[in-house]
Amino acid sequence: MRLARLSPLPLVLPLLCVVAGVASTASKLIIVTGANSGIGKECCRHLAALGGYRVMMACRNVTAGHEAANDILRQHPDACVECHPLDLASFSSVRSFAKSAVGGRAVSAVIHNAGVMAVPYRTTVDGHELTFQVNHLAQFFLTELLLPNLRRAYRDTGELSRVVIVASGAHRWASTNNQGAAGGLARGAGAAQHEVGAGGISYATEMSRGWGKWQAYAGSKLCNVLYAAELTRRYGGEDSGVVGVAVRPGTVRTAIARHSPLLRFIFTLVQPFLTSVEKAGEVVSNAAVDPYVAAGAYYDKDVRTPASAAGQDMELQAALWAVTMNILVSGGDLQRAVDLG
Ligand SMILES: NC(=O)c1ccc[n+]([C@@H]2O[C@H](COP(=O)([O-])OP(=O)(O)OC[C@H]3O[C@@H](n4cnc5c(N)ncnc54)[C@H](OP(=O)(O)O)[C@@H]3O)[C@@H](O)[C@H]2O)c1
Repeated sequence: MRLARLSPLPLVLPLLCVVAGVASTASKLIIVTGANSGIGKECCRHLAALGGYRVMMACRNVTAGHEAANDILRQHPDACVECHPLDLASFSSVRSFAKSAVGGRAVSAVIHNAGVMAVPYRTTVDGHELTFQVNHLAQFFLTELLLPNLRRAYRDTGELSRVVIVASGAHRWASTNNQGAAGGLARGAGAAQHEVGAGGISYATEMSRGWGKWQAYAGSKLCNVLYAAELTRRYGGEDSGVVGVAVRPGTVRTAIARHSPLLRFIFTLVQPFLTSVEKAGEVVSNAAVDPYVAAGAYYDKDVRTPASAAGQDMELQAALWAVTMNILVSGGDLQRAVDLG
């Protein structure tokens, strides 16, 4: 069935997908962030191949996003693909994406795939350490903004809406002190100036507090695992019908290693043993559409696997939620009465 297509002249309208034709009511909207390259692009290709989904590619680089979309459409001309700008390093971009690109549409799944690894120290326009904002904070913010859309899809279809978070085995390297939720969380991820909750959780995002690029990555990936579980606990009930799942896509040779010459070298050495980017895309997209995927769970590729002890720590899951909410509410980004506990 022909649903809708991207404009053959995407550069004429670089910020907007041109949707020609009317989507079937059977098509479910799935958003994939960081969709212009690597695992995100292959995830979109897999969804396009499956059919029945309207794939929204959310990309920081929209020109690359349109090129990726056109590449997918060449292979799957009947697919329904659209591309919109989203920069997770800017809350204002996240807000515009939710408002302008998604609007009131029902959303069956959001795949939080976009991420950075081992980037040099930098703070965003919103004042947060880059890795923490892109890999966790902005994902959380986007999900909150899209909750009505996710709930609507659940009401319309009776099927649980999914928030898929592309995590990593690196979550196991995250430093937590031995006091669990009461003492600290994932050194390297978070904001030192935000200390909240009975547990007095504090994160170090400042150089002076021992920030390190690998710990920042590992910490942010621990956040992914904790967040998927807590989101399910909070929104997975019948009143909401929104569940999370965290997925490790495998070790995949992509542009993610661009900031680490050593990792690029290692990737070259072990290339035959790596997961292909196509397989990783399939694994991640299946987490959004496979009805047998367990809510709140951590998957190592397509196998449900226990996360690290810290990742399974329910106090830590709740504490991360509280810290994140507090950052977004106190920063004026989420304007609503929320239960910070
Ligand atoms: N590759 C692996 O071995 C591996 C293993 C475990 C987990 N993962 C996870 O898999 C996910 C995808 O990574 P990948 O390997 O496919 O690497 P990739 O090709 O570098 O893809 C990362 C994507 O995230 C986007 N992105 C980066 N910063 C962004 C921002 N501020 N706003 C919006 N989008 C942004 C990138 O956009 P640009 O093209 O504009 O930079 C790109 O589309 C990441 O979350 C990563 O942590 C990867």
